[in-house]
Amino acid sequence: MELIANQYQVQNLSLLDIAQQFGTPLYVYDAAKIVQKIEELKQAFAQVNLKIKFAGKALTNVSVLKVMRQNGVELDVVSPQELQLGLLAGYEGSQITFTPSGVSFDEIETAVAAGSMVNLDNLSVLEKFGQRYGSSVPCMIRIKPNVAAGGNAKIMTAHDSSKFGIDVRQKAEILQLVEQYQINVVGLHQHTGSDIKTPEAFVQVANIIFEFAHSFKGLKYIDLGGGFKVSYKKDDVVTNMAEVGKELSNAFRAFCQSYGAQLQLWFEPGKFLVSECGYFLTTANVVKHNPTRTFVGINSGLNHLIRPMMYDGAYHEIVNISNPNTTEEETYDVVGYICETDTFGTDRTLKKVREGDVLAFKNAGAYGFTMSSQYNSRFRPAEVLVYQGKAHLIRQRETMEDILRNQVLTEFL
Ligand code: LLP
Repeated sequence: MELIANQYQVQNLSLLDIAQQFGTPLYVYDAAKIVQKIEELKQAFAQVNLKIKFAGKALTNVSVLKVMRQNGVELDVVSPQELQLGLLAGYEGSQITFTPSGVSFDEIETAVAAGSMVNLDNLSVLEKFGQRYGSSVPCMIRIKPNVAAGGNAKIMTAHDSSKFGIDVRQKAEILQLVEQYQINVVGLHQHTGSDIKTPEAFVQVANIIFEFAHSFKGLKYIDLGGGFKVSYKKDDVVTNMAEVGKELSNAFRAFCQSYGAQLQLWFEPGKFLVSECGYFLTTANVVKHNPTRTFVGINSGLNHLIRPMMYDGAYHEIVNISNPNTTEEETYDVVGYICETDTFGTDRTLKKVREGDVLAFKNAGAYGFTMSSQYNSRFRPAEVLVYQGKAHLIRQRETMEDILRNQVLTEFL
């Protein structure tokens, strides 16, 4: 969003007009920004055979998935339901990779039946896969490299005590199962974590996987997951894509050479592709002056955007888009309406907030709507996609019917 002609705009549309047209709380996504991020990633890896698989869990609206598909981005999913959404967006099953964590074997079978590639993340599933499919179905194996990297403890997935993947130290067991059942392993996968800043962490992990890969014949794909760090606040350290692209591409090309085959390099970014495209628009219900603090209470809460309450240090910049031209600023705690501690931001200096003003949260595209809930029996927000200069409603705001859906109103009480 940019401040143009005294109003915040997305693709020449005023965000405030969008808020007025569709109401708040509202998620707004800018398709042009998504395309720009896809291009940036492709550019950074122009020297290798690259495949991008959007980590659907970050933002699963089918219209957004369609934007990905139109731009040559495939899909990574973690549940049969996300897989269904991908198919609805027009993906072939074969363009969708299934990377679940500790699911029942029927979910694996569902993905295989849809023609999707599966990343197997534990030895017992690998064995079941071998027993069920032998060499007839290609698969990939998720490896845990035992590297701790990522923005906070909850989103690190590759350290020694993490539940994800098969530990690199269990290589002998993997190879034994692959041999016993002639399992057709066509790729290795790993995902280190989210919000990884340093290029070194990516290269360190990649080298562990490359080294590991030499024990497997006939690999076609190396999937290095997601985790690129985006900017949440001014002067934030972010993944330097050009640098990571250069270093990883060099390492990958050297690996392909020593492996003796040209493999395809996969990534599964979530935040990198959709964090910045999203704005969460809310309205200030109350401005409350206490002797020590001033609160802005908005018409939303952790039920709609849980990241600030869920992750240590999670930060979303907040902008008062209703009052951009004033010179008056105040420092506020921006809080939600949920009946427990529900803080979006403390000590935020904003353009003076009046009750009724619209506050926009930045970086709301990734893990915003998808982590929302009906806690406190509140409706989940609507979603709008700005596509080719027009704002389209892509999800209706919930109603009381949605709250009651599936409740069984019996007569025994
Ligand atoms: N691949 C796998 C296997 C993953 O588990 C994830 C994210 C990704 C790719 C994409 O990671 P990204 O590029 O978005 O960092 N809800 C948290 C983030 C959790 C990420 C879980 N896995 C947050 O809002 O910070």
